[in-house]
Amino acid sequence: MQTKRFQIESPNDPQVEQVGRILACGGLVAIPTETVYGLAGNALCGEVAGRIFKAKGRPGDNPLIVHISALSELAALVKEVPAAALRLTEAFWPGPFTMILKKADCIPSATSGGLDTVAVRMPAHPVARAIIKAAGVPLAAPSANTSGLPSPTTAARVLEDMDGKIEGIVDGGPCEVGVESTVLTLTTPVPRLLRPGGVTVEQIEAVIGKIDVDDAVCHRLKPGAAAASPGMKYKHYAPNAHVIVLKGELPAYRDYLSKHCAPGDFALCFEGEEASLPLPAVTFGRSGDPATQACRLFDALRQLDDQNAVTVYARCPKAQGVGLAVYNRLLRAAGFEVIDV
Ligand code: TXA
Ligand code: MG
Repeated sequence: MQTKRFQIESPNDPQVEQVGRILACGGLVAIPTETVYGLAGNALCGEVAGRIFKAKGRPGDNPLIVHISALSELAALVKEVPAAALRLTEAFWPGPFTMILKKADCIPSATSGGLDTVAVRMPAHPVARAIIKAAGVPLAAPSANTSGLPSPTTAARVLEDMDGKIEGIVDGGPCEVGVESTVLTLTTPVPRLLRPGGVTVEQIEAVIGKIDVDDAVCHRLKPGAAAASPGMKYKHYAPNAHVIVLKGELPAYRDYLSKHCAPGDFALCFEGEEASLPLPAVTFGRSGDPATQACRLFDALRQLDDQNAVTVYARCPKAQGVGLAVYNRLLRAAGFEVIDV
């Protein structure tokens, strides 16, 4: 299959209608969002959802997020919208925030991974919303990467994984946030964070009070334990290189590298630190600036593979605010291998 390229910078671009038609006819199109690129298809069609799983090589029990363009589209997708959910949509939509609610019958079980719940998000990216509106149906859109690899934050990275497997790709420039949306379930007695993202725990608690943070956000799932979010049990965001997180301050990090690094090894460090290190480095944002770290992390992981890195020693971000999302992704990229230095 030939993957058609679109360059769309404005929601008013006439090509939006063309992309909408491809999606309405059951096609798959990778689209930009403010978090990462998504692999979009009609969320209400089980067959289309099946094609998304196939293109990504994604396990069928890992449900897809359903994307809408306006709040009025939410009610039809879920059994009910609790008061807390409404307050959250007022605070964080459109934006990098996904809510899990009991699903309505119109959501096929292929989309919900066989669960009786559905994840819904309204993206902030104006081109993404215009495309959803033009499609005329809610769009399932997982990150547009091959399952297990780092999520793509540019159209070029999407093509590395998806060229020839999908009908189209919309290049809307690099993503602003860089890590996927925050996922919060409202189906538990106390709302529970399943995946940290651009909207922080502190911001959510300011709207609805105390929430729980699932154990799997910062820890490896115990063997045999059930995952609240199926995505938690799979290997994720991992480049081919072997990633190890080194927890400690810069001098201790540098000392450790001096003693342990070998040819083919790379540092994954913060901007400005690379000059003082004894090995080649790729950077992911500024120390103490989690928004820049989030923005850079996934592309940095892919760059390390471009350079055939064998072992990667990563600086450890502070797991606070948006930094919790950066830490969560890096920990998974490292298969939870952390060394205190
Ligand atoms: O920012 C984002 O959310 C991006 C962009 C493209 O919108 N999309 C995204 O989708 O990250 P995906 O499929 O890569 O991640 C969805 C995550 C998975 O970890 C999945 O297990 C979880 O959300 N999820 C989806 N529906 C769920 C449900 N009903 N219950 C529990 N977890 C769910
Ligand atoms: Mg993903």
